Order: sequence, then C-alpha cells, then structure tokens
Amino acid sequence: MNASFLITAGPTRERVDPVRFISNYSTGTFGYAIAKESSKRGFKTTLVSGPTHIKTPRGVRLIKVESALEMRDAVQREFKRHSCLIMAAAVSDWRVEEPKEFKIKRRKGPLTLRLVQNPDIVAGIAKNKGGRLVVGFALETRDFLNNAGQKLREKNLDLIVANKLSGGSNVFGIGLTDVVIIDRAGKKDTYRGRTKDALAKIILDKVLAFNI
Ligand code: CTP
Repeated sequence: MNASFLITAGPTRERVDPVRFISNYSTGTFGYAIAKESSKRGFKTTLVSGPTHIKTPRGVRLIKVESALEMRDAVQREFKRHSCLIMAAAVSDWRVEEPKEFKIKRRKGPLTLRLVQNPDIVAGIAKNKGGRLVVGFALETRDFLNNAGQKLREKNLDLIVANKLSGGSNVFGIGLTDVVIIDRAGKKDTYRGRTKDALAKIILDKVLAFNI
C-alpha cells in the first residue's frame, strides 16, 4: 500500500482590499470527505484547503491557503510526494488585477474592478504527471457530459467527476449529489442521490483500481 493522496478542497478567495474578497459557494465538503476516507484507509493524505468551516479529518496533513496562486504553489510543491492528485477545489478563475492596500471607500457611481485570469492549476500539473494519477472535478450548468469530457481531455486528466448544477439542485454542502465519473476511455458511470461520503469511497475505489 504505497498510494498517497494530495487532495484540494474548498473555494479560493481573491483579495479586493483588506476587508473584501471574490469567491464562490464551495463549502469544501467533497474534498474533505475524500481526505477523510483516504486517511481512514491508512494512506498518507495531504489536504490543501481554501477557507472552510470543516474540521480537519484525523490523520490528514492540512495545508491552508487562501488564493488560487497560493493553492497552485502548494500543489506544485507537494505533487511529487504523492501518487495521486484529486483536485476537488473550486478554484476562482479570476483574481483582482490590483488588490488595494487600503479599504476602498464608498463613493457615488459604479466601481470597476479589473480581473485577470488565474492559472489552471490541475492542467498545469497534469502536463507533466510522470506516472501519477490526476483526478479533476467539473461543475457544469449546461451540456454537462460533453463539457466534462472535454475538460478531461484538455486538462489531461485520468478521471473526472462531473457534477451537474441545475434548477433547484444544490451541489454545494452536505446534500445528496448526482455525479457521472468519466475515464480516459470515455467510460461513464452514473451515481444518483449519494452522499459525498459514499461518493468519496467510490472515487477512491476507482483510483485504486489503477494500481497507483
Ligand atoms: N481548476 C484548476 N484551476 C483553475 C480552475 C479549475 O485546477 N483555475 C480545476 C478544478 O479544481 C477542477 C477542474 O479544474 O478539478 C474543473 O474546474 P471547473 O471549475 O469545472 O472548470 P474550469 O476549468 O474552471 O472551466 P469553466 O469554469 O469554464 O467551466
């Protein structure tokens, strides 16, 4: 049992000024569930987490980050020490070009913030994965199987867990979730109405079947 897991979770926060940030609705539940399951099974587990309210699972090494750039640096530093990266974090695709040193004061009229693109962390890592396994997630509101399949190929992933966000359903937090897991051969497995703890077990079983 030499497998070891580097897992990312939660949102990133992109600083606007000392009191404000841009982020998303991610709670970190999925990534933490996977880290908990991996540690429970006795694997070395490192969790790179954006801000969340979840307790660190027993036996998991936690690296706290805030921004996408901090998450990228931590993932790049840790990747080689693990046999599998599971990128469950909801990375902010943009950051504020020039975060302000002082609080932006309220004044009349609109405020314009210029956003620049953050790096695609998982795609950057998966370019040079050297025998390691890389699992991504996809959150889609439209055409979700095609979009997820495209992400799998373009980001050079081994597996992708596709989450559909549609009217009324809430993929964030502890509710039940529907996912489709797609592999490189295009095989799709659908799981409906599962808890994230149950899905964490399924994802780890699938990863371990690769004999990492
Ligand atoms: N991801 C990443 N770095 C980013 C954005 C996303 O590593 N800057 C990773 C996520 O952690 C996830 C996968 O890429 O594993 C897909 O994320 P998702 O938000 O669904 O897709 P994007 O690539 O951001 O594309 P889009 O927002 O256009 O759907």
